[in-house]
Amino acid sequence: MKGIILAGGAGSRLYPLTLVASKQLQPVYDKPMIYHPLTTLIEGGIRDICLISTPHDLPRFRQLLGDGSRMGISIDYREQARPAGIAQAFLIAASFIGNEAVALILGDNIFHGADFAAAFCQFERGATIFGYQVLDPERYGVVEFDGSGKAVSIEEKPVTPKSNYAVPGLYIHDSEVVSIAENLEPSARGELEITAVNMEYLTRGTLRVEKLHRGMAWLDAGTSTSLHDASAYVQTIEKRTGTKVGCPEEAAYRRGFLNLSQFEEIANTMPCCEYRAYLQGVVKQAGGDS
Ligand code: G1P
Repeated sequence: MKGIILAGGAGSRLYPLTLVASKQLQPVYDKPMIYHPLTTLIEGGIRDICLISTPHDLPRFRQLLGDGSRMGISIDYREQARPAGIAQAFLIAASFIGNEAVALILGDNIFHGADFAAAFCQFERGATIFGYQVLDPERYGVVEFDGSGKAVSIEEKPVTPKSNYAVPGLYIHDSEVVSIAENLEPSARGELEITAVNMEYLTRGTLRVEKLHRGMAWLDAGTSTSLHDASAYVQTIEKRTGTKVGCPEEAAYRRGFLNLSQFEEIANTMPCCEYRAYLQGVVKQAGGDS
């Protein structure tokens, strides 16, 4: 399965922070936001990734992540000249997707305590999306379930939500998604809506909605308040456990994308900092375990 990270948009809700750097490069406690969705894909076993961003911000992402080899992955960069909705990502990345299934993750979505490896690896066809219970579903795409738990509708930012299940920004689709996106009409807000893509799969009877368990965290970091909340969350978990949340190098090592000596070398090339000390601690522990 291939992966797409969509890290575009004007970031107007984070203005004036976004005058300094794009939304997905903002710090979430101790790391750039993009490390989180990247780690989610790596943890799930995806190593062929396309990162989409604006022509203005792409050079910064390239500078940060390079070709991905430092994380045992490959990153292909594509430009979103003008933001026209999440589903536009499938058109921009059409040649990258080819005939394969693809997991699209939004650059400002943070997952912790969820394991998507099974969802990625067992996926065959159609689409799989997730549902996560929130207090403010009207901010998101919302899934309606019938009495038997079957998804019957998805509405984008409904004024009167039909459930508390929001659709997080992580979607798995087969390669049909490209032709579905090609046939979409822009919505009232002028966007190619991801919800319209998923509704098409629902109509075809090939949409699967998996409810995420309550014990995991799904955060979005697209506003000043949610960015602050996400930082506080990451800090709390990291300080309590001594393990890092959203650390792509560690995820790549644990997934077997990097061997221990490659991982150690990467840690050693970093400047002296807490992040390097953490990675070196993981190396030391792994050396001791083996
Ligand atoms: C987008 C999607 C929405 C989804 C959300 C997840 O919203 O349109 O369906 O629930 O991402 O973060 P937006 O970020 O455009 O407000």
